[in-house]
Amino acid sequence: MPKPRRELLSVVAVEAVGPYALVRVERGGVDPGIPGQFFMLEAPGRVLPRPMSLCLAPRGELAFLLDPIGPGTRALAELDAGDAIHVFGPLGNGFRLDVPKPLLVGGGIGIAPLPYLSEALEHPPAVLGFRSEHHAEAAALVPNAEVVIDPVLVTEALPEGRDVLACGPEPMLEAVRALCPDAQLAWEAPMACGYGACYGCVVEIGGILKRLCIEGPVLCFS
Ligand code: FES
Repeated sequence: MPKPRRELLSVVAVEAVGPYALVRVERGGVDPGIPGQFFMLEAPGRVLPRPMSLCLAPRGELAFLLDPIGPGTRALAELDAGDAIHVFGPLGNGFRLDVPKPLLVGGGIGIAPLPYLSEALEHPPAVLGFRSEHHAEAAALVPNAEVVIDPVLVTEALPEGRDVLACGPEPMLEAVRALCPDAQLAWEAPMACGYGACYGCVVEIGGILKRLCIEGPVLCFS
């Protein structure tokens, strides 16, 4: 497992991707980790950092896709090139990559870890769901993606016989899990520490309590 590090990293650029923001920072000595792992990003002016899975690892950089809907994510989306933020990671458990027939499945901002995962798996097929055409512009980050727009659900477009690796809102993950019990699912939760100390990320999944930052965010139930 790559060792997590905390470093102050310079912002290279913040790019709009549909309604989302792709925050690119210099990599420094931070390891990009395994797809599905996450990083705690300092949100300027906020007490708590924000957990973000890595979206892309361009040469010498780390890139994070976020939806600027709250004060923390808006502060991150408003960073300028040359600003610097503390980044701590990689943390948690990523996806298992030893799957013979991968299919990536994502919904909304849950597609964030899929571009890096797609690269690691040499661009397998993907099914991505969005609430509007504007949000679906983010599908350009994932090669070989079939896109569905609300009210069509990703679960209506899943081919059979694939090894599913998914990330998205909880109802989508539960629906994917019902169809594909072996799927690897990346869950989302608010996180304060990122390394098991605060219990702020505990979720109940299938009647079992899990600290997502150390047992997840990628879980498999089979
Ligand atoms: Fe603190 Fe998981 S984020 S225990």
